[in-house]
Amino acid sequence: MLTVRAPATSANLGSGFDVFGAALDRPADIVRVERAPETTIEVTGSGSHFIPEDPEKNTAGAVAKALDAPARIEIDKGVRPASGLGSSAASAAGAALALNELYDRGLSREELVPVAAKGEALVSGEAHEDNVAPSLLGGFTVATGDGVTQVDADIPLVVCLPDIVVSTRDARRVVPETTSVDKVVDTVGRAATLTVGMARDDPALVGKGMEDEIVTPARAELIDGYDAVREAALNAGATGVTVSGAGPGVIAACRENTRRDVASAMLDAFDDAGIDSRAYQSRIADGAELFH
Ligand code: HSE
Repeated sequence: MLTVRAPATSANLGSGFDVFGAALDRPADIVRVERAPETTIEVTGSGSHFIPEDPEKNTAGAVAKALDAPARIEIDKGVRPASGLGSSAASAAGAALALNELYDRGLSREELVPVAAKGEALVSGEAHEDNVAPSLLGGFTVATGDGVTQVDADIPLVVCLPDIVVSTRDARRVVPETTSVDKVVDTVGRAATLTVGMARDDPALVGKGMEDEIVTPARAELIDGYDAVREAALNAGATGVTVSGAGPGVIAACRENTRRDVASAMLDAFDDAGIDSRAYQSRIADGAELFH
Protein backbone atom coordinates (compact mmCIF):
# COMPACT_ATOMS: atom_id res chain seq x y z
CA MET A 1 0.00 0.00 0.00
CA LEU A 2 1.25 3.51 -0.86
CA THR A 3 0.31 6.64 1.06
CA VAL A 4 0.35 10.25 -0.12
CA ARG A 5 -0.22 13.41 1.91
CA ALA A 6 -1.65 15.99 -0.51
CA PRO A 7 -1.89 19.55 0.79
CA ALA A 8 -4.77 22.00 0.68
CA THR A 9 -4.28 24.87 -1.76
CA SER A 10 -5.57 28.36 -2.32
CA ALA A 11 -6.40 29.26 -5.93
CA ASN A 12 -6.79 32.67 -7.59
CA LEU A 13 -5.18 34.78 -4.81
CA GLY A 14 -7.38 37.64 -6.00
CA SER A 15 -5.67 38.86 -9.14
CA GLY A 16 -4.92 35.44 -10.68
CA PHE A 17 -8.39 33.99 -11.30
CA ASP A 18 -8.10 30.41 -12.61
CA VAL A 19 -4.31 30.85 -12.94
CA PHE A 20 -2.59 31.38 -9.57
CA GLY A 21 -2.38 28.85 -6.78
CA ALA A 22 -0.40 28.21 -3.63
CA ALA A 23 0.17 25.06 -1.57
CA LEU A 24 -0.67 25.42 2.14
CA ASP A 25 1.12 23.58 4.93
CA ARG A 26 -2.23 22.54 6.43
CA PRO A 27 -4.80 21.02 6.23
CA ALA A 28 -4.13 18.01 3.92
CA ASP A 29 -5.79 14.88 2.55
CA ILE A 30 -4.25 11.44 3.08
CA VAL A 31 -4.71 9.10 0.11
CA ARG A 32 -3.85 5.38 0.36
CA VAL A 33 -3.83 3.09 -2.67
CA GLU A 34 -3.25 -0.58 -3.38
CA ARG A 35 -3.64 -2.55 -6.60
CA ALA A 36 -7.08 -4.10 -7.18
CA PRO A 37 -8.91 -5.64 -10.16
CA GLU A 38 -11.26 -2.67 -10.21
CA THR A 39 -11.36 0.71 -8.54
CA THR A 40 -13.19 1.13 -5.23
CA ILE A 41 -13.14 4.25 -3.10
CA GLU A 42 -13.71 4.79 0.60
CA VAL A 43 -13.86 8.33 1.97
CA THR A 44 -13.59 9.26 5.66
CA GLY A 45 -12.82 12.48 7.54
CA SER A 46 -13.96 16.08 7.21
CA GLY A 47 -17.18 16.42 5.18
CA SER A 48 -16.81 12.90 3.81
CA HIS A 49 -20.58 12.36 3.76
CA PHE A 50 -20.79 14.96 0.94
CA ILE A 51 -18.35 13.07 -1.28
CA PRO A 52 -19.49 10.31 -3.66
CA GLU A 53 -17.62 7.00 -3.37
CA ASP A 54 -18.73 5.89 -6.83
CA PRO A 55 -15.46 5.92 -8.87
CA GLU A 56 -17.36 7.43 -11.81
CA LYS A 57 -18.28 10.46 -9.66
CA ASN A 58 -15.18 10.83 -7.47
CA THR A 59 -12.13 12.92 -8.44
CA ALA A 60 -9.73 10.11 -7.48
CA GLY A 61 -11.81 7.68 -9.54
CA ALA A 62 -11.43 9.92 -12.59
CA VAL A 63 -7.67 9.91 -12.05
CA ALA A 64 -7.54 6.10 -11.72
CA LYS A 65 -9.42 5.84 -15.00
CA ALA A 66 -7.15 8.35 -16.75
CA LEU A 67 -4.03 6.45 -15.65
CA ASP A 68 -5.62 3.04 -16.35
CA ALA A 69 -4.67 2.19 -12.79
CA PRO A 70 -7.46 0.33 -10.96
CA ALA A 71 -6.98 0.40 -7.20
CA ARG A 72 -8.54 0.23 -3.80
CA ILE A 73 -8.38 3.91 -2.79
CA GLU A 74 -8.88 5.21 0.75
CA ILE A 75 -9.17 8.96 1.21
CA ASP A 76 -8.98 10.52 4.66
CA LYS A 77 -10.25 14.07 4.14
CA GLY A 78 -8.43 16.76 6.06
CA VAL A 79 -9.58 19.38 3.55
CA ARG A 80 -13.31 19.99 3.93
CA PRO A 81 -15.25 19.97 0.63
CA ALA A 82 -16.71 23.26 -0.69
CA SER A 83 -14.29 25.25 1.45
CA GLY A 84 -12.22 27.12 -1.13
CA LEU A 85 -9.14 25.17 -0.05
CA GLY A 86 -8.88 22.82 -3.03
CA SER A 87 -10.52 19.82 -1.38
CA SER A 88 -11.31 17.89 -4.56
CA ALA A 89 -7.93 18.86 -5.99
CA ALA A 90 -6.04 17.48 -2.97
CA SER A 91 -7.72 14.09 -3.42
CA ALA A 92 -7.08 14.14 -7.18
CA ALA A 93 -3.44 15.21 -6.79
CA GLY A 94 -2.86 12.60 -4.07
CA ALA A 95 -4.42 9.85 -6.17
CA ALA A 96 -2.42 10.90 -9.25
CA LEU A 97 0.92 10.81 -7.43
CA ALA A 98 0.12 7.53 -5.66
CA LEU A 99 -1.25 5.66 -8.70
CA ASN A 100 1.58 6.88 -10.94
CA GLU A 101 4.00 5.26 -8.48
CA LEU A 102 1.88 2.15 -7.83
CA TYR A 103 1.65 1.33 -11.54
CA ASP A 104 5.09 2.71 -12.42
CA ARG A 105 3.64 5.01 -15.08
CA GLY A 106 6.77 7.19 -15.01
CA LEU A 107 5.00 10.55 -15.32
CA SER A 108 6.64 13.62 -13.79
CA ARG A 109 4.72 15.78 -11.33
CA GLU A 110 4.28 18.38 -14.08
CA GLU A 111 2.83 15.68 -16.36
CA LEU A 112 0.45 14.60 -13.60
CA VAL A 113 -1.12 18.09 -13.39
CA PRO A 114 -3.49 17.65 -16.39
CA VAL A 115 -4.26 14.09 -15.23
CA ALA A 116 -5.31 15.31 -11.79
CA ALA A 117 -7.26 18.15 -13.41
CA LYS A 118 -9.55 15.55 -15.00
CA GLY A 119 -10.82 14.94 -11.47
CA GLU A 120 -11.50 18.67 -11.07
CA ALA A 121 -13.59 18.64 -14.22
CA LEU A 122 -15.95 16.17 -12.55
CA VAL A 123 -16.60 18.55 -9.67
CA SER A 124 -16.69 22.02 -11.20
CA GLY A 125 -17.47 21.22 -14.83
CA GLU A 126 -14.09 22.59 -15.99
CA ALA A 127 -10.58 21.12 -15.78
CA HIS A 128 -8.87 23.89 -13.74
CA GLU A 129 -5.25 23.32 -12.89
CA ASP A 130 -4.92 26.14 -10.36
CA ASN A 131 -5.48 23.85 -7.35
CA VAL A 132 -3.98 20.55 -8.55
CA ALA A 133 -0.78 22.26 -9.74
CA PRO A 134 0.26 23.60 -6.31
CA SER A 135 -0.93 20.45 -4.52
CA LEU A 136 1.43 18.41 -6.74
CA LEU A 137 4.29 20.86 -7.21
CA GLY A 138 4.18 22.93 -4.00
CA GLY A 139 4.99 26.62 -3.69
CA PHE A 140 3.30 29.26 -5.84
CA THR A 141 2.12 28.17 -9.27
CA VAL A 142 0.98 29.91 -12.43
CA ALA A 143 -1.15 27.52 -14.50
CA THR A 144 -1.94 28.88 -17.94
CA GLY A 145 -3.54 25.80 -19.49
CA ASP A 146 -0.46 25.11 -21.60
CA GLY A 147 1.93 24.47 -18.75
CA VAL A 148 2.70 25.46 -15.19
CA THR A 149 5.39 27.80 -13.85
CA GLN A 150 6.32 27.13 -10.23
CA VAL A 151 8.37 29.01 -7.67
CA ASP A 152 9.02 28.06 -4.06
CA ALA A 153 7.78 30.83 -1.81
CA ASP A 154 7.70 31.42 1.91
CA ILE A 155 4.81 33.69 2.86
CA PRO A 156 3.00 33.51 6.23
CA LEU A 157 -0.75 33.18 5.76
CA VAL A 158 -3.96 32.89 7.69
CA VAL A 159 -6.84 30.97 6.17
CA CYS A 160 -10.19 31.39 7.87
CA LEU A 161 -12.93 28.90 7.06
CA PRO A 162 -16.49 29.93 7.95
CA ASP A 163 -19.06 27.27 8.68
CA ILE A 164 -21.02 27.95 5.49
CA VAL A 165 -20.95 26.15 2.15
CA VAL A 166 -20.35 27.77 -1.24
CA SER A 167 -20.23 25.37 -4.18
CA THR A 168 -17.70 26.04 -6.93
CA ARG A 169 -20.46 25.84 -9.52
CA ASP A 170 -22.46 28.58 -7.75
CA ALA A 171 -19.37 30.73 -7.30
CA ARG A 172 -18.58 30.46 -11.01
CA ARG A 173 -22.08 31.57 -11.96
CA VAL A 174 -21.55 35.02 -10.38
CA VAL A 175 -18.29 35.76 -12.22
CA PRO A 176 -18.98 38.68 -14.60
CA GLU A 177 -18.87 37.81 -18.30
CA THR A 178 -17.46 41.20 -19.29
CA THR A 179 -15.46 43.92 -17.58
CA SER A 180 -13.78 47.25 -18.31
CA VAL A 181 -10.27 47.76 -19.64
CA ASP A 182 -9.52 49.83 -16.50
CA LYS A 183 -10.21 46.83 -14.30
CA VAL A 184 -8.14 44.56 -16.53
CA VAL A 185 -5.22 46.98 -16.35
CA ASP A 186 -5.53 47.13 -12.56
CA THR A 187 -5.65 43.33 -12.31
CA VAL A 188 -2.62 42.82 -14.56
CA GLY A 189 -0.63 45.23 -12.40
CA ARG A 190 -1.65 43.47 -9.22
CA ALA A 191 -0.99 39.99 -10.64
CA ALA A 192 2.51 41.07 -11.65
CA THR A 193 3.08 42.62 -8.22
CA LEU A 194 1.98 39.42 -6.50
CA THR A 195 4.25 37.30 -8.68
CA VAL A 196 7.28 39.44 -7.89
CA GLY A 197 6.31 39.25 -4.21
CA MET A 198 6.26 35.46 -4.32
CA ALA A 199 9.65 35.33 -6.02
CA ARG A 200 11.08 37.65 -3.34
CA ASP A 201 9.23 36.14 -0.34
CA ASP A 202 7.82 39.61 0.28
CA PRO A 203 4.47 39.59 2.16
CA ALA A 204 3.85 43.29 1.47
CA LEU A 205 3.97 42.82 -2.32
CA VAL A 206 1.96 39.61 -2.16
CA GLY A 207 -0.72 41.33 -0.09
CA LYS A 208 -0.87 44.30 -2.44
CA GLY A 209 -1.27 41.94 -5.39
CA MET A 210 -4.12 40.01 -3.77
CA GLU A 211 -6.67 42.73 -4.53
CA ASP A 212 -9.00 42.27 -7.49
CA GLU A 213 -11.95 44.33 -8.73
CA ILE A 214 -13.36 41.84 -11.21
CA VAL A 215 -14.10 38.45 -9.63
CA THR A 216 -13.71 38.84 -5.87
CA PRO A 217 -16.35 41.56 -5.30
CA ALA A 218 -18.99 39.35 -6.94
CA ARG A 219 -17.99 36.32 -4.91
CA ALA A 220 -17.71 38.24 -1.64
CA GLU A 221 -21.49 38.67 -1.81
CA LEU A 222 -21.85 34.92 -1.28
CA ILE A 223 -19.90 35.05 2.01
CA ASP A 224 -21.81 36.64 4.91
CA GLY A 225 -19.51 38.89 6.91
CA TYR A 226 -16.77 38.99 4.24
CA ASP A 227 -16.27 42.79 4.24
CA ALA A 228 -16.01 42.93 8.05
CA VAL A 229 -13.61 39.97 8.13
CA ARG A 230 -11.41 41.54 5.48
CA GLU A 231 -11.34 44.86 7.30
CA ALA A 232 -10.59 43.19 10.64
CA ALA A 233 -7.70 41.21 9.13
CA LEU A 234 -6.19 44.34 7.54
CA ASN A 235 -6.55 46.28 10.80
CA ALA A 236 -4.77 43.45 12.62
CA GLY A 237 -1.81 43.71 10.27
CA ALA A 238 -2.60 41.53 7.25
CA THR A 239 -0.93 42.83 4.09
CA GLY A 240 -3.77 41.65 1.84
CA VAL A 241 -7.00 39.65 2.03
CA THR A 242 -9.10 37.86 -0.56
CA VAL A 243 -11.48 34.97 -1.12
CA SER A 244 -9.63 31.65 -1.18
CA GLY A 245 -10.47 29.82 -4.39
CA ALA A 246 -14.21 29.83 -4.96
CA GLY A 247 -14.80 30.51 -1.24
CA PRO A 248 -16.09 30.57 1.41
CA GLY A 249 -12.56 30.39 2.87
CA VAL A 250 -10.87 33.78 3.26
CA ILE A 251 -7.08 34.05 2.96
CA ALA A 252 -4.82 36.74 4.39
CA ALA A 253 -1.14 37.33 3.63
CA CYS A 254 0.75 38.36 6.76
CA ARG A 255 4.10 39.22 8.19
CA GLU A 256 5.43 36.47 10.45
CA ASN A 257 4.63 38.07 13.79
CA THR A 258 1.05 39.12 12.95
CA ARG A 259 -0.53 35.75 12.13
CA ARG A 260 -1.98 35.14 15.57
CA ASP A 261 -3.61 38.62 15.72
CA VAL A 262 -4.93 38.31 12.18
CA ALA A 263 -6.40 34.87 12.86
CA SER A 264 -8.10 36.05 16.02
CA ALA A 265 -9.49 39.19 14.31
CA MET A 266 -10.95 37.12 11.47
CA LEU A 267 -12.55 34.62 13.88
CA ASP A 268 -14.06 37.45 15.93
CA ALA A 269 -15.44 39.19 12.83
CA PHE A 270 -17.14 36.03 11.59
CA ASP A 271 -18.44 35.46 15.11
CA ASP A 272 -19.92 39.00 15.14
CA ALA A 273 -21.69 38.11 11.90
CA GLY A 274 -23.17 35.05 13.66
CA ILE A 275 -20.99 32.55 11.80
CA ASP A 276 -18.75 29.93 13.38
CA SER A 277 -15.35 29.62 11.74
CA ARG A 278 -11.94 28.11 12.24
CA ALA A 279 -8.62 29.68 11.33
CA TYR A 280 -5.42 28.01 10.16
CA GLN A 281 -2.15 29.84 10.79
CA SER A 282 -0.42 28.59 7.70
CA ARG A 283 2.28 29.31 5.16
CA ILE A 284 3.12 28.38 1.59
CA ALA A 285 4.42 24.82 1.61
CA ASP A 286 5.78 21.85 -0.34
CA GLY A 287 3.66 19.73 -2.65
CA ALA A 288 2.29 16.23 -2.07
CA GLU A 289 4.53 13.77 -0.19
CA LEU A 290 4.74 10.07 -1.02
CA PHE A 291 5.31 7.46 1.70
CA HIS A 292 6.09 3.80 0.97
N1 HSE B 1 -10.24 28.96 -9.97
C1 HSE B 1 -11.35 28.18 -9.52
C2 HSE B 1 -12.47 29.12 -9.16
C3 HSE B 1 -10.93 27.39 -8.31
O1 HSE B 1 -12.19 30.10 -8.49
O2 HSE B 1 -13.61 28.89 -9.56
C4 HSE B 1 -11.96 26.42 -7.86
O3 HSE B 1 -11.93 25.28 -8.68
